[in-house]
Amino acid sequence: MFASNTIKYLGHKGYSYDKKLDQNINFTHLTITFMSKPVIEIKDIIKHYEVGTQVVKALRGVTVQINKGEYVAIMGPSGSGKSTLMNVIGALDTPSGGQYILNGTDVSHLTDEKLAEIRNKEIGFVFQTFNLLPRYTAQENVMLPLIYAGVSKPDRIERASQVINKVGLQERASHKPNEMSGGQRQRVAVARALVNNPSIILADEPTGNLDTKTSVDIMRLFGDIHASGNTIILVTHEEDIAQHAHRIIRLRDGVVESDIVNKEVVVLQ
Ligand SMILES: Nc1ncnc2c1ncn2[C@@H]1O[C@H](COP(=O)(O)OP(=O)(O)OP(=O)(O)O)[C@@H](O)[C@H]1O
Ligand SMILES: [Mg+2]
Repeated sequence: MFASNTIKYLGHKGYSYDKKLDQNINFTHLTITFMSKPVIEIKDIIKHYEVGTQVVKALRGVTVQINKGEYVAIMGPSGSGKSTLMNVIGALDTPSGGQYILNGTDVSHLTDEKLAEIRNKEIGFVFQTFNLLPRYTAQENVMLPLIYAGVSKPDRIERASQVINKVGLQERASHKPNEMSGGQRQRVAVARALVNNPSIILADEPTGNLDTKTSVDIMRLFGDIHASGNTIILVTHEEDIAQHAHRIIRLRDGVVESDIVNKEVVVLQ
């Protein structure tokens, strides 16, 4: 099924060439991806918002299963329910109906407190607008999730420094968000998402506010994070950003319109 897949490699100078997917390393990766257990099992999820007398049916029965180590892009027109679905997957919001099993636990009807605990442990978020605290330095922003997780201060400093190094921002650790470029801010947000070692990274339009070159840097970072074993789910409007993912789910009017294996994965080097 995957034998005819091609991988598109993009060089640093923007040139690209195709390569047949005939290397064991890639098969190994796909095998791991498809044999592992589901981290996310969404069954017939419904989400209704009541606004005055009106009911908005944002999700109208979505069923999706995502396995450990997958790299999934969610696409679809504005208003199709992408962010709503991400909020449900990220346990930021509870569905109006259906079942959600996260890492084997049914989280559909948990209390807010229990949801927050699961969220903090299992999920790292990256948003379009970075959502950093303006008065805190990069290092302090990255350390925040560890405070909620009850990690000691020396360990917080150590772990935050490690992920800041990982995203290549060691020289900006003491800078505040307004002293950094958009791409650097987003890298801080990625570091913050990684610091708790979550099983899942959720990113809602992570390159939506970035120029093309900076978007490529962020996508390279996501590629590295995925290669080190994380599950990534990314919402995007842009086809070329979605081509980094191994699977593309398209929503329309609150339902899954298509769910396909991406046959032309772009790998940045
Ligand atoms: N808090 C809310 N209260 C009421 N309606 C909402 C709320 N959040 C979303 N909606 C509605 O639910 C539908 C789905 O919204 P959602 O934000 O999930 O779309 P989206 O696919 O992420 O769109 P975009 O690409 O513009 O970000 C829309 O019709 C939206 O107006
Ligand atoms: Mg959205």
